[in-house]
Amino acid sequence: MQTRITKLFGIQHPIIQGGMHYVGFAELASAVSNAGGLGIITGLTQKTPEDLAKEIAKCHEMTDKPFGVNLTFLPSFTSPPYFEYIDAIAQGGVKIVETAGRSPEKYLPPMKAAGIKIIHKCTSVRHSLKAEKIGCDAVSVDGFECGGHPGEDDIPNMILLPRAAEELTVPFVASGGIGNAQQLVAALALGADGINMGTRFMVTKEAPVHQNVKDAIIAASELDTELVMRPLRNTERVLKNSASAKVLEIEREKGANTKIEDLMDLVGGVYPKVMQGGEMESGVWSCGMVAGLIHDNPTCKELIDRMMGEAEDIIRGRLEMLLAS
Ligand SMILES: Cc1cc2nc3c(=O)[nH]c(=O)nc-3n(C[C@H](O)[C@H](O)[C@H](O)COP(=O)(O)O)c2cc1C
Repeated sequence: MQTRITKLFGIQHPIIQGGMHYVGFAELASAVSNAGGLGIITGLTQKTPEDLAKEIAKCHEMTDKPFGVNLTFLPSFTSPPYFEYIDAIAQGGVKIVETAGRSPEKYLPPMKAAGIKIIHKCTSVRHSLKAEKIGCDAVSVDGFECGGHPGEDDIPNMILLPRAAEELTVPFVASGGIGNAQQLVAALALGADGINMGTRFMVTKEAPVHQNVKDAIIAASELDTELVMRPLRNTERVLKNSASAKVLEIEREKGANTKIEDLMDLVGGVYPKVMQGGEMESGVWSCGMVAGLIHDNPTCKELIDRMMGEAEDIIRGRLEMLLAS
């Protein structure tokens, strides 16, 4: 299947693995890329630009296909040395960056100079248009269903994607809530040029996370996520656990006066404990509603081949038949 996204990134299938903190290591990124999708290393999971350079080198050893790096621009006081991370990406010969969080505008010149293509992930039509205007090559449109940060507009992909299609000129992919072939076909029908998946890729053989994480996602239904940090306007969709219940209790008590310091023990520094240690109650961690559609732990290749094969069957079979009858 060829779309504007496969052509832009030189990949076989229009499927991207979104950057995920403490999940997007070389093992997963290379597996997705080897399967014909676009794997992405999570830049800031690497503590220093030097560590990122090593992770990129490792990924080059594991695949000769294109892969990308995610750079998340955080609303933090102690900003990471982003320009040095960009140097590591450029020196490492990576030609695709997924940006997310705040506007990537001031970081675009060095990336463009290095011939890097930028796909900016955002949660609204207005931010998508801004990304297009400042020169991003593509947009990843993240709906309300998504695992991680869905923004504050609460617009699900059934509305957000066709709205993006109405307005955008650059290629865009559908992100959030996607895990199977039906949804891939639906995203294409809604105007997207491909898809981006996070939670679904966490439950693959190559995802380097603790088995407890995979088991928890497989056991979860679509009802098992909730939104934390709303009062901070830094909303995150997480899997329900005792930590998310505690966060919501504090938020109910403190209301609009909730501060990040009130939640820090439950939301900060949690990822290594959960993803590597399998300590499932140690804090809140991002997970999408698509958990309800995740029932197995395939290899990335099995997952991508299954989705592409079934998508073709749906398009040539079910949809074609509707017109024939
Ligand atoms: C565990 C986890 C960690 C994530 N970490 C990041 C991150 O560091 N940066 C980022 O841009 N997106 C992050 N995301 C969002 C994903 O890249 C992707 O946009 C999202 O998962 C799509 O929704 P889905 O999970 O429903 O597929 C994370 C998602 C998950 C599930």
